[in-house]
Amino acid sequence: MPVAAADPAAASAERVASTRRVLMCRPEHFTVVYRINPWMHPQVPTDTALALRQWQTLYDLYLELGFTVELIDPVAGLPDMVYAANGGFVLDGIAYGARFQYPERGPEGPAYMEWFGAHGFDVREPVSVNEGEGDFLLVGERILAGTGFRSDRASHDELAALYGREVVTLRLVDPEFYHLDTALAVLDPTPGRAEIAYLPKAFAPESLEWLRAEFPDAITVTDEDAAVLGLNSFSDGRNVVIARRAEDFARQLRERGYTPHGVDLSELLRGGGGVKCCTLELR
Ligand code: ARG
Repeated sequence: MPVAAADPAAASAERVASTRRVLMCRPEHFTVVYRINPWMHPQVPTDTALALRQWQTLYDLYLELGFTVELIDPVAGLPDMVYAANGGFVLDGIAYGARFQYPERGPEGPAYMEWFGAHGFDVREPVSVNEGEGDFLLVGERILAGTGFRSDRASHDELAALYGREVVTLRLVDPEFYHLDTALAVLDPTPGRAEIAYLPKAFAPESLEWLRAEFPDAITVTDEDAAVLGLNSFSDGRNVVIARRAEDFARQLRERGYTPHGVDLSELLRGGGGVKCCTLELR
């Protein structure tokens, strides 16, 4: 399974991109006016125009990569709605709605469910607190599910019942990496050759033990790369869109035959989100 680091060109020939369909939300109302994660500092002013320009570079890159990008209308008064990954979890045409932990984000749940319903998805109302793809990641046939800060453990059972798939609970312990998608990246979700990258210190001992056993060849990233939310990335199996400043992660990706594409979302980082947070996959 490990790809020869000595010959990245040959390795990259084996990496297969599959086009993605994603949902995004323009950060028209982005700002930081409350604090629900350690990255947010409401006393520091934000630059919405800059956030929009940076977000646009991500949107444009996805189009260049051949993705289908759908847009949901931003709602005034919901500054975090740009982080579309939290809007739900969508797989097999079924959209499991989000139920946010903090009231500030509460109305985003119904807004996203309305979009899913209007676009042909079978919408399921959530019972438990869960923040969608922020905490749920499809890897191979399984769903890895984060808990500890946001999504309730009970939501993992709801997921398992809804999709008839194995759901593996991973417990997060570092408040800076409060959603699973800030601590773990899916590089290749293909069953049989699934690959991930993660930040070991973000996980409780039993979860780390499980990750090490299941993914012995996984990339582990440096604290520096994690501190710019480098893991909060989006891959099509070959192209991996990451934070531009996550240079060592980019190097490791190249060694494995992936093509990293760096983007600068520094303004959105001030809300505690990066590339993946702005991206909800529709499957
Ligand atoms: N300010 C948002 C929050 O704390 C950021 C969400 C980031 N999204 C993500 N998928 N990690 O809820």
